[in-house]
Amino acid sequence: MCGIIGYCGQKAAVPVVLEALKCLEYRGYDSAGVASLCDGQLLIRKDAGKVEEVIQKHKLADLPGHVAIGHTRWATHGGVTQFNAHPHADCSGRLAVVHNGIIENSQELRQELTRRGHRFASETDTEVIPHLLEDELKNGHSLEQAALNTAAKLEGSYAFVVVSLDDPGKIIGTRRGNPLIVGLNGRDRYVSSDALAFSQYTNEVMGLEDNEVVVLTEGGAEFLDAQGNKLVKQARKLDQSWAESDKGAYQHFMLKEIMEQAQVLGRIANQDKQQFTEIALDILRARQVIITACGTSRYAALVGRYLFSRVGKKFCDVVMASEFGYFADSVDKNTVVIAVSQSGETADVVEGVKAARAVGAQVISIVNRPNSILTDLSHQVIYLNCGSEIAVAATKSFLSQLAIFYLLSFAMVNSFDQAAARLAELSGEVSKTLDWNKSELIKLSEKLKDKNDAYYIARGINFAIASEAALKLKEISYVHAEGMPAGELKHGTLALIEPGTPVVVICPDDYTFAETLSNAIETKSRGAYIIGVSDRESEVYDSWIKIPKVDELLYPMVAVVPLQLLAYYVAINRGCDPDRPRNLAKSVTVK
Ligand code: F6R
Repeated sequence: MCGIIGYCGQKAAVPVVLEALKCLEYRGYDSAGVASLCDGQLLIRKDAGKVEEVIQKHKLADLPGHVAIGHTRWATHGGVTQFNAHPHADCSGRLAVVHNGIIENSQELRQELTRRGHRFASETDTEVIPHLLEDELKNGHSLEQAALNTAAKLEGSYAFVVVSLDDPGKIIGTRRGNPLIVGLNGRDRYVSSDALAFSQYTNEVMGLEDNEVVVLTEGGAEFLDAQGNKLVKQARKLDQSWAESDKGAYQHFMLKEIMEQAQVLGRIANQDKQQFTEIALDILRARQVIITACGTSRYAALVGRYLFSRVGKKFCDVVMASEFGYFADSVDKNTVVIAVSQSGETADVVEGVKAARAVGAQVISIVNRPNSILTDLSHQVIYLNCGSEIAVAATKSFLSQLAIFYLLSFAMVNSFDQAAARLAELSGEVSKTLDWNKSELIKLSEKLKDKNDAYYIARGINFAIASEAALKLKEISYVHAEGMPAGELKHGTLALIEPGTPVVVICPDDYTFAETLSNAIETKSRGAYIIGVSDRESEVYDSWIKIPKVDELLYPMVAVVPLQLLAYYVAINRGCDPDRPRNLAKSVTVK
């Protein structure tokens, strides 16, 4: 994870870098730092803490210079300390590096470098990079050649950016497996993990393939392949709707993203019918279909599995991406693998897809971020088109994933248009759900804020919604929560129900209502506090989250929205930052 940024040009560099770091904070927010080149000096300031805290503490905005790099960290190797924060320097303090990724052979490299007399100042894997570069520069190589030679010695994944006093007008960047994108505006040059970091200045971008190197100078951008040959590249325009990263009047991105779901759903039906029809046919023809994803995206996949079976009469399996490799033996060229990932850069998903491709499987990905690693690896790509999602907890991307699975399953039975029309109508129902429940959810969050545990139950298509709603609560409010099929509760978890334990029961007025309610009554008999999520009232509920009556296969989309909002309000009541939950980051680029 981690976000990196470099800037050189006519503006004061550090303020540009600091603004960029604020946009990149979704990638990691346990430490931050910058390095600036000015008047023959390399100035490095860094510390543990969120970007704003580090900026204030070290008065970063005052740093001079027109060439600077910056980093926001999600710790992997080494604790959250000032020493481990990036940028990292070589022994001489003449060059500085920021890095995103994991250097798998860092231990061996470190031992070798230490034997050669290098002194390490941190516990990070990253620090081998500046020391390797230092040796290359000592051997008389240019900074770009030093970067090429260093990259060739690294195993694992990386995107790194370097500045050096020996070549003070330049920023060098390179990548393998982690994103890096260049932005151009007049004589200003940007390089970052995400174009969002510089989208306020430019939408003209150039991509970097694995193992390529970019050399940025004021007014210049030169691209090299792994052998150092010059490459000719065309700039392209970034979709500005994607680049939007403003909270507007909302206190948090998560709240904004929850609230904009009705509009997102209104837009989602504008998908390419032809593409859906072709993909639906591929799915129907395949010997087997495996959906792979992590976290929230996996819960969307579980709803998708249900829809494929119910509508398309096609059974498929959902395999957690981190476990995918253990099922690789049964994947072959007659397999369709559907990879679901908001970011398109989740390492476990990417690895699974690579393995599937290697044995000839057809790969279809459902992603939100354009031009992500996953999109490059897939035969077909369906975009969520829900705009950038900044809050760490996924909300609008989840709803969009559900909508995509809905469309795909109806495309299997030649009913794409009807499904698209139903989704467009559902937009109004989602707004209604939010309006009806907002004040009730605020009150409910007060009641839940001191609870240690919560359980979420549902049946059929809504079981995955119980799991997703539980995940939302635990990741942003740190309350232990579990979601499970309602019928499973009595096989063990019922033992944990005590007087006052909250049990959220998703029981729409469909074929699951009676049985799910009966499971709720079993918990109520043990003192549980029942929160019913339903379009049908019941005296069993202690609190009622009212949802509109919709078609049975659309209930997941109206049931999840108030539960996202409930999790948000509980987090606020517990004093947690819902946009930046502890220990987490939005893009999980490590295995
Ligand atoms: C939870 C959440 C995560 C992600 C998971 C996969 O709110 O966002 O569980 O769903 O890390 O991320 P993507 O979808 O980017 O592959």
